[in-house]
This record gives sequence, structure tokens and C-alpha cells, in this order.
Amino acid sequence: MSKELIRLDRCTMVFDEDVVLDNINLNIQDKEFLTLLGPSGCGKSTTLRIIGGFQMPTSGDVFFDGVRINSVPPYRRAINTVFQKYALFPHLNVFENVAFGLRIPKTDANGAKVKLPEEEIHSRVMEMLEVVNLKGFEKRRTTALSGGQQQRVAIARALVNRPKVLLLDEPLGALDLKLRKDMQKELKRIQKAMEITFVYVTHDQEEALAMSDTIVVMDKGCIQQIGSPKDIYNEPQNAFVADFIGESNIIDGIMRADGVVEIFNRRFQCLDSGFEKDEAVDVVIRPEDVDIVPLEQGQLKGTVTDVTFKGMQYDIIVDFYGFKWLIQTTDLAPVGSNIGIKIDPDGFHVMKKSRYSGMFGDYSSYSEEFDEISQGVGDDEE
Ligand SMILES: Nc1ncnc2c1ncn2[C@@H]1O[C@H](COP(=O)(O)OP(=O)(O)O)[C@@H](O)[C@H]1O
Ligand SMILES: [Mg+2]
Repeated sequence: MSKELIRLDRCTMVFDEDVVLDNINLNIQDKEFLTLLGPSGCGKSTTLRIIGGFQMPTSGDVFFDGVRINSVPPYRRAINTVFQKYALFPHLNVFENVAFGLRIPKTDANGAKVKLPEEEIHSRVMEMLEVVNLKGFEKRRTTALSGGQQQRVAIARALVNRPKVLLLDEPLGALDLKLRKDMQKELKRIQKAMEITFVYVTHDQEEALAMSDTIVVMDKGCIQQIGSPKDIYNEPQNAFVADFIGESNIIDGIMRADGVVEIFNRRFQCLDSGFEKDEAVDVVIRPEDVDIVPLEQGQLKGTVTDVTFKGMQYDIIVDFYGFKWLIQTTDLAPVGSNIGIKIDPDGFHVMKKSRYSGMFGDYSSYSEEFDEISQGVGDDEE
């Protein structure tokens, strides 16, 4: 069904002896919405620029439709880019901004310059304005458009010469939250309507989960995990991915046997298997997978140290033997109360130890930060 369109094969990028991309292998399927997700500086834009042809990898190969394209310049690739700064022409109206690329004469097989007929330019621009929901705005100056409308013009302009792939580097970063959510849906709809491949860059995990067919989680120039949003959320590969995608309690554990994991010296039933007997592991427990129960029924007992009302639920910080967990619940347990908790077998996710072990997943700093903030506010008011 799916077909490989782009492949990065052992791509490494070095700037001034800094390894910015470290041996990246990545397959991008035709017509998929693939997102590069990771913290600032992890190498997302560099990866995108390599795909677009704006940068050559220090080593490794780039393939498009099975053909090596390392030295093919950007304008000869069936790939277009939408940048965060839309770079629209302020002196041209919406129609001419979109038409711009179509008006540049192309060189045909015989070396002659060929111009597109005006009617074709007109019909293609109008078709694109319809796709991005900007029909009726042809004559507007782009300076008289909202941020979201300008973004749509930039997308229409990038799509009008019918690329097979659209690269988008944090394109919604400049928009406010509400508009960003609307544009996420719009982009997804446009990608489906155009039946092309989108390679999307963001550091926003919610955005990645909402839009993507495939998410590529990156950190420090390396790919940490590739998978569907559900895979990435439910089966994080290591503590970095678990921490970066959603909220996670990450606890040191020991795999006692297939389906039996030990944390805090207690054994729990889980669904994970395939580890060595008594292998040290990282155990992820999502805040929404923890049930609060009467103390005597609890598998573990802890003390509530912080409660934040979040509208849909309470975020509760609970101290278990000095390790602080985040629990999301609709049952209020006040600060200072002792509670029992229960976790079903599918609430545990067991991961191999990695270079990220011990770095994430304890919520002590969460409540301290919170204390500092409320402290600070109090000081100002005095
Ligand atoms: N042209 C360049 N010269 C030197 N360093 C660069 C260059 N481009 C990017 N970098 C460095 O490479 C790393 C990854 O950058 P980038 O791919 O832009 O990350 P991201 O898009 O994930 O924030 C950063 O440390 C950045 O400073
Ligand atoms: Mg970037």
C-alpha cells in the first residue's frame, strides 16, 4: 500500500566539529504526514534542510523515489518549503503572491524558455486559493491579512507548482493558540485534499500527536523513536520519549519475570515481557492510569503534597517514599491526606535502561517550581 518516497541513509551533519546530526536513517512514505519532533537544537531544521536540498549532509545519502539526490539543487527537487516567516511580497496582492512561481519561465528539454499561458496560471492560482479557503481574497494586499490568512497564502504559494512533498518548519509558531489549533486542522485537511507528503517540524508534542501519521522523536542529533502517535505515546522507547510526550512518572524497577515488575520493593502485574530475569528497567506510569482508592485497598500508599485544579481534572502530586508522582484524577484528595493507589497491569510500561535513565520522571521539581511561582506572586503583592 504505502510506498517509500524519501530516504535518508546514514546522514551525518557536522558544523565546526559539532555533530549536529548523528547517522540518521529515515524513510518517508508517499502521501504521509510525518513530523520531526524534539526540543530546540536537536537537529529538526537541519534534517528538513537536507531533505529540501538547502544543505548537503557531511556524510550519508539522500534518495528521492529511489534516486540519489545529494547534489540535486532545491529548485530541481519536487519539494517545496513553507517557512515560519512567510516572506510574502508586500507590494503584490494575494493572487500575484501565489502566481509568482508560475510566472518564472521554465527551461524545456530543448533549452528554450517556456512561459505558462495566463489562463493556466489563473486556473491554478484560483484552485489553490480554494484549497486554502481564500477565495474572494485575490485582490487583497497581503499586508491587510491576518496572520492565519498570510499563512494560507504562503501555503498556496508553496503548493501551486504541485510539489510531491511540502516541508513545513514550525509554520504555526507565530500564531496564537486558538488560531494554531484551527490551522492544525486546516493543514491536515489540505494535505489530504492535495494527496501529497508533508514533512512537518515542531517542538510541540500536542501538535505532533494531533496531526501526524508518523512522528519522529529526535534529541541531540539522534532519532529516539519513529512511530504512530499512539505507538509513541503508549510504547515510548526510553525515558526521553516518555518524558517529552505527555506527562510521565518514570520509576526505577526490576523485571522479576515476564509480566511481573517490581517498584518500591513491591511486585506488580504488567503486560511487558522479553526482559532478562531481574533486569533493571525504567517503568513509566502515566498520570491518568493511576486510580485513587481507600488507603487499605491501595497497592501503594502516599501523601498528597500539592493539588492544582485543571478544569477537567485535578493534577495531584503524591509523595511515595520520597519519590513524587503526578496523578490526574477527578477525585479530589486534599493536600496532606494519605491515599492508596491502584494501577492496572496495562498502566505499566516497562522500558530498557538508556542514557536518559534517572534524568526524568520525578515530579519533585514540578511542585518546587510551583511553590517558587506562588511565592513570587505573593512578594509582588506586598
Ligand atoms: N549553519 C550552521 N552552522 C553552525 N551550527 C549550526 C548551523 N545550523 C544549525 N546549527 C546548529 O545545529 C544544531 C541543530 O540545529 P537545528 O537543526 O536548527 O535544530 P532545531 O531545528 O531542532 O532547533 C544547533 O545546535 C544549531 O546551533
Ligand atoms: Mg528549527
